[in-house]
Amino acid sequence: MELIKPLSIPATGTKLSPEQAMKLAISEAYKGATRVSPNPLVGAVVLDANGGFISCGHHEFYGGPHAEVNALKNLSSETLKGAHVFVTLEPCAHEGKTPSCAKMMAKLPLKKVTFGLIDPNPLVAGQGADILKNAGIEAEVFSSQNAEEEKEIKTQLEEVCEAFLWNFRKKKVFVALKMASSIDGQVALKSGESQWITGPQSREYVHYLRACYDAIVVGKGTIDFDNPSLNIRHPEIKKDNKVVVIDGEGELLYRFDELKLSQVHAAENIFWCVAEEAKERVDKTLSKLKKTPQIVYVKTNVGGDLDLEALLAQLYAKGLRSVMVEGGAMTASMFISSGLANRLYMFQAPIIMGSGGARSWTETVRISEMKNKIHIKNPRYLTFGNDFMITGTLS
Ligand SMILES: NC(=O)c1ccc[n+]([C@@H]2O[C@H](COP(=O)([O-])OP(=O)(O)OC[C@H]3O[C@@H](n4cnc5c(N)ncnc54)[C@H](OP(=O)(O)O)[C@@H]3O)[C@@H](O)[C@H]2O)c1
Repeated sequence: MELIKPLSIPATGTKLSPEQAMKLAISEAYKGATRVSPNPLVGAVVLDANGGFISCGHHEFYGGPHAEVNALKNLSSETLKGAHVFVTLEPCAHEGKTPSCAKMMAKLPLKKVTFGLIDPNPLVAGQGADILKNAGIEAEVFSSQNAEEEKEIKTQLEEVCEAFLWNFRKKKVFVALKMASSIDGQVALKSGESQWITGPQSREYVHYLRACYDAIVVGKGTIDFDNPSLNIRHPEIKKDNKVVVIDGEGELLYRFDELKLSQVHAAENIFWCVAEEAKERVDKTLSKLKKTPQIVYVKTNVGGDLDLEALLAQLYAKGLRSVMVEGGAMTASMFISSGLANRLYMFQAPIIMGSGGARSWTETVRISEMKNKIHIKNPRYLTFGNDFMITGTLS
């Protein structure tokens, strides 16, 4: 999730260029990554009348104060005279869980507010800026004299709240796909063994990623082979998460009570996706269980598989806004071949597993001409111990 190196907070008075200020606001925004969904990640930076750093803040948790409020709190009118605020998203014009940020800022002696993205809601886009302008404060969308730097910063601005933008623009669940592979692209042995491919640093980062999305999605095979807990085990994060299992025939449901999953999570946080046609059998199985997960009935496609687009629509209707697909091999492949993954996190370890006895994560993806190869857009590379991770967008 955190796609850029976190920037350190400068000393008070340090002169920042508009580009540096907006990059710092983006870095601040990521600090809310595990707690703000379904709200956007937002960061703000305040510079004094001379362009010197005064303070910064971010939207810390869903329902909590917005980034602008956190950045501006405790600053006197004297300090804010002629100040310039940089914020990654247009200040909100309306009252939601918290009061309007634009109205709050309109009362301050600011000179200028620069925001990264216009509010994606066409009904309110520009209204935050209008409130500020009517109060005599300059308000404009971020731009830079340096076209290349502007492009990079605008990409970062879209990335930092990509799930929120996707939800808003498409009314769909944002899908991240995480896999761990050898350098020859294998994710498990045919025997089912796959632990561990990557090292502890990568795995700790995956637990952070789990906290950044509303739910983890896995296929039936992973539950069967690994009996995973799929909870968040990270030294700095305490959070209950949701889990989605794709098991078209509901074959593993009879074992639900003994799965680690059912012992670790509240049953209502587990969504078990089965075919509409399997209802009768599933109902019988459920009647024999001590605890029952939420059952999500999904229509099937011509091949008899659950229609993943319909599955995501059902999850959206149940309030989920972002998921991270964690495998296994077949499930990852199906999300790629159906074009439903928005972001990829591919961890690669410096090992070779060979294609003879192992599984790839793109078994169902067929590319017959190079012009049809799938591009990972805006790729970024991070290292974790001996592993590296490539992340980028697919749609
Ligand atoms: N390296 C990694 O990052 C990683 C991560 C997770 C798991 N793994 C490994 O991957 C292996 C498991 O992979 P896998 O391919 O066997 O299993 P999987 O992807 O976990 O599950 C595949 C099964 O899920 C069901 N499924 C998935 N999509 C479906 C759809 N659209 N409609 C209906 N059913 C659907 C199907 O069950 P049916 O058989 O009922 O059709 C399918 O056979 C294990 O060895 C595990 O350790 C590796």
